[in-house]
This record gives sequence, structure tokens and C-alpha cells, in this order.
Amino acid sequence: MTNIVLIGFMGAGKSTIGRLLADQLQRSFVDVDDFLTQKQGQTPSDIFATVGESAFREMEHDALVEILANDDQIIASGGGIVENPANQALLSGAEVIFLTAEFATILPRLLADDTRPLLQRHTTQSFYALFTARQAKYAAFATQQVWVDGKTPARVAAEILTWLQDGRTDLTALRSQIDSYDRQILALVEKRLAVATKVAQYKQAHGLAVVQAGRMATLKAALHADSALPDAVVDTVIETLFALTIAHEEDVHDGI
Ligand code: S3P
Repeated sequence: MTNIVLIGFMGAGKSTIGRLLADQLQRSFVDVDDFLTQKQGQTPSDIFATVGESAFREMEHDALVEILANDDQIIASGGGIVENPANQALLSGAEVIFLTAEFATILPRLLADDTRPLLQRHTTQSFYALFTARQAKYAAFATQQVWVDGKTPARVAAEILTWLQDGRTDLTALRSQIDSYDRQILALVEKRLAVATKVAQYKQAHGLAVVQAGRMATLKAALHADSALPDAVVDTVIETLFALTIAHEEDVHDGI
């Protein structure tokens, strides 16, 4: 079987998802950064600091040549693998999966980790420019794009396993993107209901009714003005949210 190579920006989950895939497919797992660290006796961070980025890119290319001499592996690449155009031809025989994440997903993960040399060397602006420029490069290298925002690593691994086993069509990447938005929408609904709990407690403490006359109409009018979506779509979404929230607030009132 061909090698499966995970690419994407740092913090997208390449190593975590790669390990899950390797476990489930019973294939060996190679992390290019770890391979390099072992070979050079230095972490990518230290290599960047001592010999600079272009020397690092050459070492990374050589490591990739060595790793790709074997088959059947799950390979987590470094985020900058796409900076060396020679790597594209090298990866041409592999299944190359682009783990796509939004900047808003990536940044907090990276800020919580002080071992990322690129982040340390950039301003916020230049880091965002790098992120944006990289997206097109990942897409050019990839044979398949998978959206990770809002999904657990296990969910992303399961999604990849499904299409590896059942095959894929042009719909596969689009569905991956939609599934990601669904999870982000549900996470927002969860936040909305958490606030609704406090609203219910306030109303209860102040003797106010759960449903406030006139508020729904006022909110809808404001949403019609603010949203680019057709009014009918806004109404369908917001009426569902109102119904959920009212039921939730009633549960809070009843102590459920
Ligand atoms: C890099 C990403 C790192 C590592 C090196 C450079 C990059 O890998 O290879 O620090 O240029 O994006 P991860 O994506 O695994 O963090």
C-alpha cells in the first residue's frame, strides 16, 4: 500500500491524527520532525536557531527521501514541507492528506506551546501572511482535503478511514467541510444555551416570565437587517434556536 502523508499548518493535528490512523490501520507511524530530531540530535527548533531555515529545509527533504524509501507508513510531515518544491515530486506516489484548519483554530494551540520556532520569529501579521500563503501550497500538494475545525482527532481519523475504505468522490471534501461547520454551529448552540441558563436564573430571581412579549419580533427584525441570508432562512434558524432556548429556560425554572 502507498504511504499516507499528512500535511497542513503546524497545530492542525498531523501527529495526533497520524498516530490514530496508524493504530487503526496497523501501519507504522513516522513523524518527520521526530525522525529529524533523532538523526540530527537536535530539535527542529534548535536546527532553525543554529543553521537557519534553508539548511533545515534541506535536512527535511533528505529525511523525507529516506522515510519514503519504505511503504505502508502513516507519515506526519512538518508544516513547512511544502516550502521546498522538490518535495512535491517526492510525494507524488503517496496519498497526501491536507488537514485544513482555520487560523482561529490554530493560533490558540500554538500560543500554548513554546516549542514552535516559526511562531517565535514572526509578528502576528507576518505569521498570518505565512498561514495564508501556505494554504494554497498545501492544496497543490494534496490528493485529498479534510477539514478539522470543531472535530476531535478521533472524528477526523474516522472520517479519513471511511473514505480510504469506501472510496471517495468530489463530494468527500465538501462533506468534510460541511461536517466541520455543523460541529462549530453546535458548539455555538452549546454556548448559547449556557448563557440561557443564566438568563433563566435571572428571570426567576426577578419574577420575570420565560417568554417576553415582543422580544422575538424585535430580534427577528434586527437579524433580518444584519444578516445576508434571506429572511425566511434567518427565521427558520432563529425560530429553532428560540424554541430550544425557551424549552431550556423552562427546564431551568422547573429545576430539571
Ligand atoms: C515548521 C513546522 C514544524 C517544524 C518546523 C517548521 C513549519 O512542524 O517542522 O518547526 O515551517 O511550519 P509542525 O507542523 O509539526 O509543527
